[in-house]
Amino acid sequence: MSSPSKLYEESGKLKLSVRPGKQLEKLSKEALEDPDKFWAEQARNLVWFEEWDKVLDWNPPFAKWFAGGKLNASVNCLDRHINTDTKNKAAIIWEAENGETRTLTYLQLYYQVNKFANVLKDLGVKKGDRVTIYLPMVPELPIAMLACARIGAIHSVVFSGFSAQALTDRANDAQSKVIITADGGMRKGRLVELKKVVDESTGSVPSVEHVIVLRRAGNKVEMGPKDLWWHELMENAKAYCPPEPVESTHPLYILYTSGTTGKPKGVMHGTGGYLTHLYSTAKWVFDFSKQDVFFCTADIGWVTGHSYIVYAPLMHGVTEIMYEGAPDFPKPDRYWAIVEKHGATILYTTPTALRMYMKYGDSIPNSFDLSSLRLLGTVGEPINPEVWMWYFKTIGKENCPIIDTWWQTETGGIMLSMCTCIETIPMKPGSATFPVPGVDAAVVDEEGKPVAPGTKGYIVVRKPWPGMLLTLWGDDEKYKQVYWSRFAGTYYPGDYALVDHDGYLWLLGRADDVLKVAGHRLGTMELESAFVSHKAIAEAAVASKPDATKGESIIAFLVPKEGFEKSEQLRKEVVAHIRSTLGPIATPDDVYFVSKLPKTRSGKIMRRLLKSIASGGQIGDITTLEDGAAIDEVKQAYEDLKKAVRP
Ligand code: WTA
Repeated sequence: MSSPSKLYEESGKLKLSVRPGKQLEKLSKEALEDPDKFWAEQARNLVWFEEWDKVLDWNPPFAKWFAGGKLNASVNCLDRHINTDTKNKAAIIWEAENGETRTLTYLQLYYQVNKFANVLKDLGVKKGDRVTIYLPMVPELPIAMLACARIGAIHSVVFSGFSAQALTDRANDAQSKVIITADGGMRKGRLVELKKVVDESTGSVPSVEHVIVLRRAGNKVEMGPKDLWWHELMENAKAYCPPEPVESTHPLYILYTSGTTGKPKGVMHGTGGYLTHLYSTAKWVFDFSKQDVFFCTADIGWVTGHSYIVYAPLMHGVTEIMYEGAPDFPKPDRYWAIVEKHGATILYTTPTALRMYMKYGDSIPNSFDLSSLRLLGTVGEPINPEVWMWYFKTIGKENCPIIDTWWQTETGGIMLSMCTCIETIPMKPGSATFPVPGVDAAVVDEEGKPVAPGTKGYIVVRKPWPGMLLTLWGDDEKYKQVYWSRFAGTYYPGDYALVDHDGYLWLLGRADDVLKVAGHRLGTMELESAFVSHKAIAEAAVASKPDATKGESIIAFLVPKEGFEKSEQLRKEVVAHIRSTLGPIATPDDVYFVSKLPKTRSGKIMRRLLKSIASGGQIGDITTLEDGAAIDEVKQAYEDLKKAVRP
């Protein structure tokens, strides 16, 4: 095999015609020709209490993977290791923002998970009950998730950067019985008062019976009648909790994600199919071995953390690093310092973090020993070729292949990526390369027909895959309509893509009203509802504009109600309102006050127009905008926007 840098040199001349590689081609062919046989072999890598009767029971668009099989996720992550040499190996090396570290071996993690599973059981949590987890990035977060899995409860983790309204909506939708939180979390040296946010929420979530509070920051918090301290409950809990054997299709978790509607959607993942997908993709893509120290920088509040911090690495028995804080606090060197200190072999991060580090120049990463690294990954947004090159040269010293992994909350695990365990293929900076074996992805036009090479279209997945969502929590109809109705019988992810002449796939951003701000997924309508919940705002339209670090930033066009001044004071108030309802990640970069918004005759906001106005781009041919848009109306709206007040 040639060295990765050689491979890059070759692929750098994009004229060169390359093929995906014989091994990958062979495996993908086998997988698509006989998926039952292929996925059954993969599922045998898991520990089952009972084997399945049927690999796939497909009643489109509802899939039952490994129907009839029984297993438990926490057994697959923990029990499978505790009678092996892995028992005393570090499972999680946790680093706090202040540099403090804590290491948990597989046995120690197993002990904590068992005890906490008993805590939940003693509080009356049963199989199928929902538990909302609102914790910072501390080891108790995966402990709580695995404890839920152990007793068959369904966890719903809410990103700790969200605020009260977001938490309330999610806990209410899931009808959670318990909320688990902490007295505080640390972010950029500041205390984030999570318990206060929970206190603001719980009054509006009648289903909640108990709130478990972890002592993390040591600050004083009010303890109400429903509140219980984590450490006190743990003191009295028994050491062993028998795992609940659950059906393969039993929901492991709900994870809320933004879409094109106002309310976030509760993506529901099962157990057997989801874990099979994770086990296999982690093996193919990361080629995990016993020596690996895996550093995934995601927050567990998002899907990357669920899949590739909690479930996949633990099933494989690797050592992983979990970092609590911001990449640039106290200095813009934290990831490099952590790689050096703990000897990370694989780094899996976002283009946003890389763009931020790249801005600070090479001298910072060059001052650390990064030679332990053997593989570099990215996820969450398209990566610009210059950033890819910087990652390859400055961080990987041209010795580490780069895996650009494309997937979504809904897909459960990686769908497109080079699979280094199968073979290293020539890389192209900015391309996510090929589907992983068993995933039947294609790029199609408006009619659903495959497009010619080099033509922009929509990426679709034509066959079910084990990691796919079961449905949306409590809303089968919406599940069908959002994902399976755009192209009949085909999964629609909502991303633009193209296939080049060598068959490589390139992702070109969202094709809908979903934003990716610093890799965080936000829906424009969700943001708009938060803006209009402010007393002075009558109407709101949200769009994005390109941002050199965050990829995209939020811009808001607001129509104030009669009697409210378009002032700097109002802008400040509205921004503060967004931060306290949705959270700091939803902070707009620009706020414009306008007297009316450009809409189509049917009343749809023309976000595309707003986006080009705010990015200083060409308005272009407005006849091609939304259907039925009256030109004069659009022109007038455009004039209004130009006159908009931007305090
Ligand atoms: C985007 C994150 C380009 C895409 C795992 C997708 C990417 C959305 C990539 C899902 C990539 C993710 N290249 N775009 N490698 N990975 N995306 O649900 O728009 O937070 O639809 O899952 O992120 O975001 P989500």
